[in-house]
Amino acid sequence: MASVKSVALLGLSLLSQASAVKLLALNFAGQFYSLNLAFQSSTKASLKVVQNITACGVTPTWLHLDEETRTVYCIDESWLNEGLGSGNLSQWSAGPDFNKKDALTLTGSTDTEGNSVHGFTYGGPDGRSFIITSEYSPSTITTYRLPITSSTKALQKLEFTMAAPGPRPDRQDKPHPHAAFTDPTGDFLIVPDLGADLTRIFKIDGKTGELTACPAIASLPGDGPRHGLFRKTGRALKYYSLNEVSSSVGVYDVTYPDHSHGSKESCLSLKLVQTLSNYGPNVPLGNVTVKSAEIRTVGNFLYASNRNDTTFGFEQDSIAIFKIGNDGKLQFQELTNAHGYYPRSFSFNEAGTYAAIAGQTTANIAIVKRDTKTGKLGPLVTNLILPPRGTYGGEDGVSNVIWVE
Ligand SMILES: *[C@@H]1O[C@H](CO)[C@@H](O)[C@H](O)[C@H]1NC(C)=O
Ligand SMILES: *[C@@H]1O[C@H](CO)[C@@H](O)[C@H](O)[C@H]1NC(C)=O
Ligand SMILES: *[C@@H]1O[C@H](CO)[C@@H](O)[C@H](O)[C@H]1NC(C)=O
Ligand SMILES: *[C@@H]1O[C@H](CO)[C@@H](O)[C@H](O)[C@H]1NC(C)=O
Repeated sequence: MASVKSVALLGLSLLSQASAVKLLALNFAGQFYSLNLAFQSSTKASLKVVQNITACGVTPTWLHLDEETRTVYCIDESWLNEGLGSGNLSQWSAGPDFNKKDALTLTGSTDTEGNSVHGFTYGGPDGRSFIITSEYSPSTITTYRLPITSSTKALQKLEFTMAAPGPRPDRQDKPHPHAAFTDPTGDFLIVPDLGADLTRIFKIDGKTGELTACPAIASLPGDGPRHGLFRKTGRALKYYSLNEVSSSVGVYDVTYPDHSHGSKESCLSLKLVQTLSNYGPNVPLGNVTVKSAEIRTVGNFLYASNRNDTTFGFEQDSIAIFKIGNDGKLQFQELTNAHGYYPRSFSFNEAGTYAAIAGQTTANIAIVKRDTKTGKLGPLVTNLILPPRGTYGGEDGVSNVIWVE
């Protein structure tokens, strides 16, 4: 029979094996980090820098991971018009041994017209033949064929316009596409446009990667949609929109074209059915000093990060927690501490047991525990600063964090 001690040792080694996880993070100053998270217990861990490369252009802002091939795409926000040089789109291999200092290797890069704030792969037989980026100030989305090589050129570029500024002219002076990502079938691309108060929809030609515009869906005036995601609860498929300007989440019904009835309709459509403030049921939408940033779901819960609300004290912003009902609608639960200021990015591990929260201005990565039953976040398990820190309201500090498991 195994002794108590060897059983305990076995438990510990299983824990450290199971918890040999890596994260990738970016600092807007041009640092691309790979991080190692090692657990001493379920509420105690250490987060260390494994690799620190100056990469991904001048203002790296977004990481997109293709989990199956362990390919990482790094999106750079810099822009000629701001005197920062051209933008950069780079492609990296993460693995197989991700413990090594050189585990993250560059496999391709190209310069771009710049100011991309997001990237996502789509199209082809397995949804990874093309990548689309969204350009905030130039009001464009741009596609590229994969893999990225030094001779990669844009495949298609679509520029959006609007006749007059929106209800928040400081933020809605013109269209600002903030992201582009596929629906669950992979046949459509969704583009939240913060400036135009629209969720734009495009039909994908899987072979050529070409996009054709479908009717766009209006958000509430002044919502400023930034990011979004699809999620199915039972049979209820919903689209959830993170509205940066109104600091709210919009819940949309999703309708696919029904070809069985001879309909010529070929587009996915959305219908707004619920909007909730990220600060609770009695808080009006559209506080001008705060701005929401990221949206994630795990289990039957939805999370939305709030920037500049300092709900938990000096440089301690919040994350809103919603419960997802059986019909896909949301119920506000509570605000929880983001353990940093300006949580632009956060993500959960696969098991949904921990969150990594990137405080942009505080330039920190906070690892917090997640209760899989209640959806609550906390306590803080560990915290790491990835310098340099940002300035108030600036496009600097830590821009993105993802798990690579
Ligand atoms: C783009 O980024 C890659 C990876 O950091 C780098 O090797 C390459 O030189 C950059 N390209 C340009 C044009 O800056
Ligand atoms: C806006 O949010 C800030 C920070 O949470 C808060 O102090 C302020 O009272 C809010 N203003 C309004 C009008 O709700
Ligand atoms: C990463 O490297 C940069 C440039 O060499 C340096 O400024 C920064 O402090 C390093 N980060 C860490 C966490 O050591
Ligand atoms: C953050 O909120 C304060 C008021 O609480 C406001 O004065 C400031 O302009 C806001 N900063 C940003 C970048 O929104």
